[in-house]
Amino acid sequence: MTNNSLEKRKLGTQGLEVSAIGLGCMGMSHGYTPLPDRNEMIKLIRTAYDKGETFFDTAEVYGPFTNEELVGEAVEPFRKEVVIATKFGWDVANGNPGLNSRPEHIRIVVEQSLKRLRTDYIDLYYQHRVDPNVPIEDVAGTVGDLIREGKVKYWGLSEAWSETIRRAHAVTPVSALQSEYSIWFRDLEKHVLPTLEELGIGLVPFSPLGKGFLTGHIDNASQLDEKDFRRNLPRFQEDAIAVNKAIVDLIRKIADTKGATPAQIALAWLLAKKPYISPIPGTTKLVRFEENIGAADVELSQEEMNQINEASDKIEFVGGQYPEEVLKRMAR
Ligand SMILES: NC(=O)c1ccc[n+]([C@@H]2O[C@H](COP(=O)([O-])OP(=O)(O)OC[C@H]3O[C@@H](n4cnc5c(N)ncnc54)[C@H](OP(=O)(O)O)[C@@H]3O)[C@@H](O)[C@H]2O)c1
Repeated sequence: MTNNSLEKRKLGTQGLEVSAIGLGCMGMSHGYTPLPDRNEMIKLIRTAYDKGETFFDTAEVYGPFTNEELVGEAVEPFRKEVVIATKFGWDVANGNPGLNSRPEHIRIVVEQSLKRLRTDYIDLYYQHRVDPNVPIEDVAGTVGDLIREGKVKYWGLSEAWSETIRRAHAVTPVSALQSEYSIWFRDLEKHVLPTLEELGIGLVPFSPLGKGFLTGHIDNASQLDEKDFRRNLPRFQEDAIAVNKAIVDLIRKIADTKGATPAQIALAWLLAKKPYISPIPGTTKLVRFEENIGAADVELSQEEMNQINEASDKIEFVGGQYPEEVLKRMAR
């Protein structure tokens, strides 16, 4: 297989290097319905690799389990050339809906993930959500042991805020934070980005296309499949979409002047923000994958960045990240 390289970026200061734009694989087995054909997805991942992609994102909970199996099978022919990122922290192996980052549980599920991924090491292992019942120092210590044993190369957190990141980093240096960050979700800028910068930690924005919204392909909620998880998200309710689409209009205007697409502008904005940012847009379509990695060639001037920042500052986006009851339960 050939691999035309895509620009690389460093995450953290421990040596982790990834494609500037990764591939989020969740939607290949989870969340966005109807789900695509599995064999087609294996083909997509292999073609993506041929086109320079080397950073693949999955998690134990996607499927559950089936997404790791899919990614493991797809990258097996070129395993050593790619970075596999996966995540632990839900209690899926025990069939419970809650979190579980207890050290003994991490030790069990890492072995299961390795098996499903057909590998003997995980390049980047994230805690999927902060577990309020387990001190982050214990999690960091356990993952530190896995790193020393060679089962994990680098580690990260997802959706954690500054204090947790600092405490974790003090025990086992963190290479990346994976959190939602995009033109319409900029909460991280005030509190979390300065901490990442200070500690030299990379950022992997998930849902960098606003779960598809920023691409301009979603005009109303009724377009989404009945089982599509976005139907339960506040930002995808009809009244919210009506207000929030102001940002899509602006992105589209800038895209038109640059001969780019709205998806490319959303990704180029992230790449231009900081050199330690590597977004992981998810797609199940080759043509969109090609469009998305094309964002690496779209350069936004400072003036264009300011225009987007100011416009997004002015819009009072309707709808939180998750339903209120989920946000209330969430530890950061
Ligand atoms: N850590 C976490 O808690 C967490 C949470 C969510 C996601 N993630 C990770 O982040 C990855 C990406 O996030 P995400 O999938 O939620 O959101 P996203 O990347 O912002 O958007 C994905 C959606 O956009 C569509 N899309 C992709 N490229 C497009 C294009 N060029 N034009 C039009 N539509 C396009 C996809 O549909 P098609 O498939 O039809 O193209 C899909 O519906 C996931 O795959 C997962 O690995 C992590």
